[in-house]
Amino acid sequence: MEESLAELAQLARTAGLVVVGQTVQRLEHPNPATFIGPGKVEEVAQQVVERAANVVIFDEELSPRHQRELEKALGDEVKILDRTSLILDIFAQHARTREGALQVELAQYEYRLPRLTRAWTHLARQAGGRAGGSTGGVGVRGPGETQLETDRQVIRRRITQLKRELEEVRAHRGRYRERRRRAGIPTVAIVGYTNAGKSTLLNTLAGAEVTVADMLFATLDPTTRRVSLPGGGVALFTDTVGFIQKLPTHLIAAFRATLEEVAEADLLIHVLDVTHPQAERQARVVEETLEDIGAADRPVILALNKIDRLSRPEQAAMLAAKLAGTLITPAAHVVPISALTGAGMDRLLACVEKSLEAQMVWVDVVIPYHAGELVNMFHRRGIIEREEHTEEGTHITGYLPHMLTGPLRAFRAGKRAAGKRA
Ligand code: GTP
Repeated sequence: MEESLAELAQLARTAGLVVVGQTVQRLEHPNPATFIGPGKVEEVAQQVVERAANVVIFDEELSPRHQRELEKALGDEVKILDRTSLILDIFAQHARTREGALQVELAQYEYRLPRLTRAWTHLARQAGGRAGGSTGGVGVRGPGETQLETDRQVIRRRITQLKRELEEVRAHRGRYRERRRRAGIPTVAIVGYTNAGKSTLLNTLAGAEVTVADMLFATLDPTTRRVSLPGGGVALFTDTVGFIQKLPTHLIAAFRATLEEVAEADLLIHVLDVTHPQAERQARVVEETLEDIGAADRPVILALNKIDRLSRPEQAAMLAAKLAGTLITPAAHVVPISALTGAGMDRLLACVEKSLEAQMVWVDVVIPYHAGELVNMFHRRGIIEREEHTEEGTHITGYLPHMLTGPLRAFRAGKRAAGKRA
């Protein structure tokens, strides 16, 4: 619980808030009205006054009723947030691409709709426009129920519109992905708990300028970079949104498009901050999220990150051994790295290459005689089923590592060449 609260405080700071106090209560069940008990509400109200606080954040998701009752109990001047709405605010601050912004806005409205207790008069004025992050958007009290109903209608209309816009963006992304697949360039998704070092890793691997910050959810929109592998191949590495505990399912649903990149990647690199006291727990949260988004069957390389901060290098190996017993899907490779100093990068890339090479696809090609080096490559790296010399060139059918099929694309013999996975 303490770890979870510490994380909540870090989330609050990331959202630009200053934390002035905290409190906990052990309860068998949440109070149906105010979530915490009446005595605790009193205590919080007192702390709010003493410390001149204007936001109270709960670490659990509040129901619309909890929200209403707490607003009543703590007064108009105090904004009540829960973990989910705080995360949504941070997402809203960090969305850079159109897709990211649309996804966050949709998630915010879907979350707010049942919780709309105060009239948000500014919404009506901004119909069709942005309502902004909820931290800054404390609603102005409107003339009552009629206004509230108008607001609800505005939000519902906006939700429909957002869904339509997102569909278009998704279709575009799908077409892009299909092109990439046809080009035979494998994709590697970097996943991990927020702040594990995913962006730092992508920077180090690709020399890319990805935002790195010691705060949660610095990366919201996926960034993709081309990385050369030691054997001469290339792969596209994508940095994705960080995972976090208690990430509500509807939030995951909102980011489905972004997370599809993960589910369809040829390989995942799971970056784990080994110096974090909750490293094991974070690893499990990541695994559960991967399951939720249908990516649990992807091959995984576990990168034990930030080893430069360990006083004894063998600590990484100890954690790896411990994790081996608890993880749902055993990683194909476990590699200690420091994304910051670059330690372990050669080994990581070698493992990436090895894993990708293990993924063979079926190809049927007629390679012209002037491109004989491709026939040699097939002999060295592939499994040949049939080879025949024809007038146009060497006709080969067989299996080849997915990542090596790019140069052969121009020489496909039949329709089957798009290939099924071996
Ligand atoms: P989100 O975008 O929040 O999901 O985070 P992320 O996983 O992309 O993490 P990011 O790369 O932004 O790094 C988070 C913090 O950890 C930054 O302060 C980094 O400088 C630091 N960091 C990342 N890798 C290493 C490492 O290998 N060693 C050390 N000492 N610090 C690291």
